[in-house]
Amino acid sequence: MPALPTPAEIRRAAAILRAGGLVAFPTETVYGLGADASNPAAVAKIFAAKGRPQDHPVIVHLGSIELLPLWAGDIPAAARQLAAAFWPGPLTLILERATGVPDCVTGGQDTVGLRIPSHPVALQLLQAFAGEEGGRRYSGIAAPSANKFGRISPTTAAHVRAELGAAVDAVLDGGACAVGIESTIVDLSRGRAVLLRPGQITRAQIAAVLGTEVELPDAAAPRVSGALDSHYAPRTPLELAAAAELPARLAMLRGKKIAVLARGAAPSGLKDVSWQAAPEAAADYARELYASLRRLDDLGCELIVAEAPPAAPEWQGVNDRLKRAASNY
Ligand code: TXA
Ligand code: MG
Repeated sequence: MPALPTPAEIRRAAAILRAGGLVAFPTETVYGLGADASNPAAVAKIFAAKGRPQDHPVIVHLGSIELLPLWAGDIPAAARQLAAAFWPGPLTLILERATGVPDCVTGGQDTVGLRIPSHPVALQLLQAFAGEEGGRRYSGIAAPSANKFGRISPTTAAHVRAELGAAVDAVLDGGACAVGIESTIVDLSRGRAVLLRPGQITRAQIAAVLGTEVELPDAAAPRVSGALDSHYAPRTPLELAAAAELPARLAMLRGKKIAVLARGAAPSGLKDVSWQAAPEAAADYARELYASLRRLDDLGCELIVAEAPPAAPEWQGVNDRLKRAASNY
């Protein structure tokens, strides 16, 4: 675990953001590529660095719940309940936007995605950034995951440097992310709760707090770039294999240079196979998933075969990301 950024480094990063620069910073989910969410020119730099289409909305990160009314026009009781239960933490709420929220963070939609992250470095940065200076008010940091568009999200500072390097003015190193997959996204802007992206906080946990069902998106749901197929993908083709079928699949692939991501140790006698043993528990599996995929991707194999994890609710976020990683194939 590296030394956490000093207060002086946090202040310097906040000053870069206020001046319209880009700062990559750790959150508990994945690293974010941050810019002043009120500054369209700064947010445009995020899209340029990522190679991301300009019309995709980005999440605005806040350092305190008091800032919520600056960004959300209507704050339903459900939002207060979920914020009380899960913020700071890996949950993003989609709410009606307040007047004056720039189109660059909403993708021109009438809603905005908001979250208070729990990583101490993220909170320190958000708190150092917020305030008034030279007649301007600073309150929210726009930050998508700090990866190139469509690629695996970074869970260490080294991943960010390797992928975005010179495009970022500063990278704050907060160690490896504890959650490892992106936040759960719940849309509350239409008078009901809709799960737009599964994550560590499960649909059942949200339903328990709200006392209502949480719906799954239909065709009318807003666009979520992370919901595109072929997102979170390694360059190496990846296929999913049911646990029971894995041995037969590996036998069929004999002679090819392949990598395997599976829970449990490699069977003996496998040749030409790079075996990555994944953790048994869903939370541990999620924490290591993206670093494992990057490692396997760097081996230059013909194919990555991932053993499909269980279908149980706590695996929903992991299964969603694996399915998308496999859809390039
Ligand atoms: O865990 C996370 O959420 C990380 C960390 C950095 O906070 N951020 C992240 O951002 O995953 P990004 O941009 O890679 O994914 C954010 C997702 C996108 O799929 C985007 O389309 C969706 O949130 N989103 C943002 N604002 C939205 C809105 N107003 N309506 C619908 N979807 C929205
Ligand atoms: Mg992303």
